Amino acid sequence: MFIDAQALIRATADFFIQSGRQAIAERDRFLVALSGGSTPKALYSVLTSREYAPQLDWMKVHFLFGDERAVPPTHSDSNFALANTMLFTPLCIPSLQIHRMRGEDPPEIAAIQYEETLRKLTGTTPGPWPALDLVLLGMGDDGHTASLFPGTPSVAEQTRWVVPGLSPQGTRLRVTLTLGVINHASVILFLVTGPNKAKVVQRVIEGPSSDPTPYPAALVRPETGRLLWYLDRAAASELTGATQDLSS
Ligand code: 6PG
Repeated sequence: MFIDAQALIRATADFFIQSGRQAIAERDRFLVALSGGSTPKALYSVLTSREYAPQLDWMKVHFLFGDERAVPPTHSDSNFALANTMLFTPLCIPSLQIHRMRGEDPPEIAAIQYEETLRKLTGTTPGPWPALDLVLLGMGDDGHTASLFPGTPSVAEQTRWVVPGLSPQGTRLRVTLTLGVINHASVILFLVTGPNKAKVVQRVIEGPSSDPTPYPAALVRPETGRLLWYLDRAAASELTGATQDLSS
């Protein structure tokens, strides 16, 4: 838990830079999947700042997406559009390092195409799952993450890497990485802020809820990697003391 949003975002940026440097030192590239939604905006602002931008060799970073809304890449709801405006353009990231989900295509087509993109990029053909270096995730107050929504088929997917998603509100049609891809990452980092997320944070982190439909975020359990929860005080407010300490 971090005192305030600024401390939280700086810590996330520090972790991003440190993970990137390690991956580049070990494998000469950094494969990172960005989350959608609004919370990443502050992170993008810090990463492109004069203080942080010089700290990483951005020419070695490959940007992927955890999910996308079924809208064109210029649409205000597009996760790509946000990252392009607030991160890729300010850092002059070459288009060859940006691997976006084609929200303008039918979700099934976009999902198949993106799995091919991931297989080519990770060289995992054949192979069960890719090993991304860092997967950034947000969480909705219904416990969804990426575009894995409670009670939808995408949550139960066992073999595919990318599938269509279905949101109960907003832009309904989505494309999303599956739990298999997420859970095989080296590091999974949840970035969650705000009082409206406190109840679901408590349910997801502190164990089984009485609700029949599991929270997709509770199914994020790394096979061999690390799981980190970066929370502000408001989002962590319903956690018991012991758990609160764990996340700092
Ligand atoms: C999306 C996201 C989604 C998001 C959560 C939290 O495309 O909507 O990937 O999973 O991370 O809904 O969204 P906020 O950060 O806006 O609260």
